[in-house]
Amino acid sequence: MSDEFYRIKRLPPYVIAEVNAMRHEARRAGRDIIDLGMGNPDHPPPQHVIDKLCEVAAKPGAHGYSQSKGIPGLRKAQANYYGRRFNVDLDPDREVVVTMGSKEGLSSMATAITAPGDVILAPSPSYPIHTFGFIIAGATIRSVPTRPDERYWRALENAMDYTVPRPTVLVVNYPSNPTAETVDLAFYERLVAWAKENRVWVLSDLAYSELYYDGKPTRSILEVPGAKDVAVEFTSMSKTYSMAGWRMGFAVGNPTLISALTRVKSYLDYGAFTPIQAAA
Ligand SMILES: Cc1ncc(COP(=O)(O)O)c(C=O)c1O
Repeated sequence: MSDEFYRIKRLPPYVIAEVNAMRHEARRAGRDIIDLGMGNPDHPPPQHVIDKLCEVAAKPGAHGYSQSKGIPGLRKAQANYYGRRFNVDLDPDREVVVTMGSKEGLSSMATAITAPGDVILAPSPSYPIHTFGFIIAGATIRSVPTRPDERYWRALENAMDYTVPRPTVLVVNYPSNPTAETVDLAFYERLVAWAKENRVWVLSDLAYSELYYDGKPTRSILEVPGAKDVAVEFTSMSKTYSMAGWRMGFAVGNPTLISALTRVKSYLDYGAFTPIQAAA
């Protein structure tokens, strides 16, 4: 009997769990620390969101299995958000799926679209799920820089020219965790053109969509005309509404990718607790 499990051998201890353990030790030793370990918002969610959760949770009919792809009203609300905020038109039935946080969305997407041995382009440094979601799915990672300068574009070209098999997916995350770097629409325009030319899917993690400064709202890759042909974007209520523990996020964009994610999720989960979806 082997205890050398294929996937576990490829997963080092989760970085945030390690940092939390260090924090715990430091606190126990009475040290005065500033916790930069986990992106836990330090404000409560808006009161009307909590009120809605309580109101719906009090209904006897709200406690059954929910809908894996998300209740229709929530998918419609997310489509409306993209319309309002980014001027992007989304079909709530074919182009939106609710996820249990963007982390779950990204990892289920990796499971849905990756075969063992596929090569995925992911930023380094990155938030762990951008690489490990695909490693769990059996893929190989080829790193590209996080900084969106000319070296980035050269790295993409090199990756396509010299990697066998050719990479199938590129992960991007701006504003970046951990570097906080941001991009403008011109970056996404170039990226969409590159992805179409190279026939690579783009997964954009926009978890920090609403954390911006200097009055310059964060851009979405889906603002680029035709981006939906190649891209899906993940957003989250964790940071925007201080709802990290609620586990509520979204994937939107290319209907083929959204359909693949929806299919995998229909086997894995029955959706978030309905009162959470209603409050979201
Ligand atoms: C870049 C990035 N993506 C995704 C996540 C996960 O967010 P969620 O709570 O939506 O799963 C985080 C959390 O810190 C993050 O920093």
